[in-house]
Amino acid sequence: MTHRVRFQPDDIEVRADGSETLVVLAARAGITLRGACGGAGTCGRCRVRVTGGKIRVGEAVLAAPLEVPACQARPAADLEVVVPSASRLEEHRVLLAARAASVLGEEAGTVAPDGPLYRRVSLHLPSPSLDDPVDDLSRLLRALKGQVPADVRVPLEVLQELPSVLRANNWRVCVGYHVDDDGRSAEILDIAPGDAAVAFGLAVDVGTTTVVVQLWDLAAGTCVGTAGSYNRQAAFGDDVITRIIYAAEQPGGRQVLQEAVVKTVNELIGQVLAGAGVSSEDVGAVTFAGNTTMMHLLLGADPTYIRLEPYTPAANHWPLLRANDLGLAINPRAVVYTVPGIASYVGGDITAGVVAAGLNHKEGITLFVDIGTNGEMVLGNRDWLVACACSAGPAFEGGGIRAGIRAIPGAIEEVTVLPGGYEVFFRTIGDKPPSGICGSGLISVLAGLVDAGILDRSGRFRKDLGTPRLREAEDGPEFVIAWGSESGTGEAISLSQAEVENLLRAKAAVFAGIRTMLGALGLDLEAVDEIYVAGGFGQHINIKDAISIGMLPDLPPERYHFIGNSALKGAAAALLSKTARREIAAVARNVTYLELSAGNRFMEEFTAALFLPHTDMELFPSLKGGN
Ligand code: FES
Repeated sequence: MTHRVRFQPDDIEVRADGSETLVVLAARAGITLRGACGGAGTCGRCRVRVTGGKIRVGEAVLAAPLEVPACQARPAADLEVVVPSASRLEEHRVLLAARAASVLGEEAGTVAPDGPLYRRVSLHLPSPSLDDPVDDLSRLLRALKGQVPADVRVPLEVLQELPSVLRANNWRVCVGYHVDDDGRSAEILDIAPGDAAVAFGLAVDVGTTTVVVQLWDLAAGTCVGTAGSYNRQAAFGDDVITRIIYAAEQPGGRQVLQEAVVKTVNELIGQVLAGAGVSSEDVGAVTFAGNTTMMHLLLGADPTYIRLEPYTPAANHWPLLRANDLGLAINPRAVVYTVPGIASYVGGDITAGVVAAGLNHKEGITLFVDIGTNGEMVLGNRDWLVACACSAGPAFEGGGIRAGIRAIPGAIEEVTVLPGGYEVFFRTIGDKPPSGICGSGLISVLAGLVDAGILDRSGRFRKDLGTPRLREAEDGPEFVIAWGSESGTGEAISLSQAEVENLLRAKAAVFAGIRTMLGALGLDLEAVDEIYVAGGFGQHINIKDAISIGMLPDLPPERYHFIGNSALKGAAAALLSKTARREIAAVARNVTYLELSAGNRFMEEFTAALFLPHTDMELFPSLKGGN
């Protein structure tokens, strides 16, 4: 039986057969709900008010009015559903856009085109005559000779329209084509009457949290537009594991997740094209970089075995696809290239980052670190590369921290705690009243609390301090960073003992991963000549703070470099350069993956790193005597 479900205040109605949850129905109505737990019913972020009709929750049928987690409710009659703003991802997307504009502006640039994935050429063919009556295809191939490799594939749909296209503008045509990376063959993707228009391509970073799209002029090698927003998949889980579970366990879950990310990408494509005044037909290539799970979900592949030992992905190297395989809102025959990954937890975003940072050309030993829910690391130089991944947990992304929020305006990103803890100074993104603490802010808070002597080396709040900021709450001691009177929400922003422990585990996992990888190669920290810190979060970390809490190695600041969104940089390089694609393929093939769960070494390192900064102060010479 079909029910009508009307979402308010949007006033959008969708039809439902009763099998889908309100989260899925809301997504179909274009409303993305928040959903940290991926539909487990435990996070409460997807709450909606049912003001009319009946819903089914498990076996029970409940009548309006009531408030429920949308992920647990299915229609049992026609429904009126009010979606509060706190449950909508869109509210957060707006905030992200403001942040993205400044962050991503720095990412755009110029790349010398060297074999872009899509090219265009103008041809003026001689018209047929009784002396030269060859067929249209032969005439076209004759004109292309010398411009493209001799082996040219012409798809049937191009051939079907060829006679009228050639004659529409007196035998002047613009031919769009793709040359295979071995340079021996090419495929014609489109032909249009008239002179060659500029060929465009898109580089896309598909992050678990955010998606960023860049539009590039493929002949000039210039970026002409960037747009970013939250990944609509966030309605179905905050991290890759909850999304894999959603894909595996919810009916039609894989398709729902694929539609969500494609919708996100298409919206961003629409924005960049409109902003640059470019037609979707002029976009002939797209490159995607993302972690292994994101690539599976984008391509609709079963991700189940990524999370089950021995952690096997469906593929690390994906074939070249077409835009219409994925439903992308561009030229349907546009080529789609996916940056190859290395392993289930070291994906194409890392391969792209390694090439963007140039690790594969370095003489000295270089460490590449991308910190998010997973810490991914690559160590090596032009002769060898080793990668590993550690689960840092979601603490740096705000998971398991009451005040934890993304890097949006109002997020505290830097904190200074005066000795004794009576006074706290903080800086927020956009100088807005504080509404929470973002990842870099959490590192800064931890460093500030250690510095001011509020936390001891084992991460415990000291009991002998008189500051009113250190107070006893329901769940134990907590330290107040901003009082309710100062905050944008009216609620105090604080960090509890349990939250400090979550952060300790997250930072310990990163440092233990680095040490385990170095140890496996018989190297110590001093052997590292340079460190590249990647990711939007990495860009805002204060290195001194990260060293002082024992998350990153105690090496001179000049050895550290921030590389920003290196996945996007690598995706752009792959779009424009055959050399970059060759290097990416070689890196993905040649990196040795180190599984940290095999053997005890990682656990030993992890336990030793659960101190501030570490049990072994010899590893932090610049901090000795300071704590
Ligand atoms: S309670 Fe619905 S997504 Fe978490």
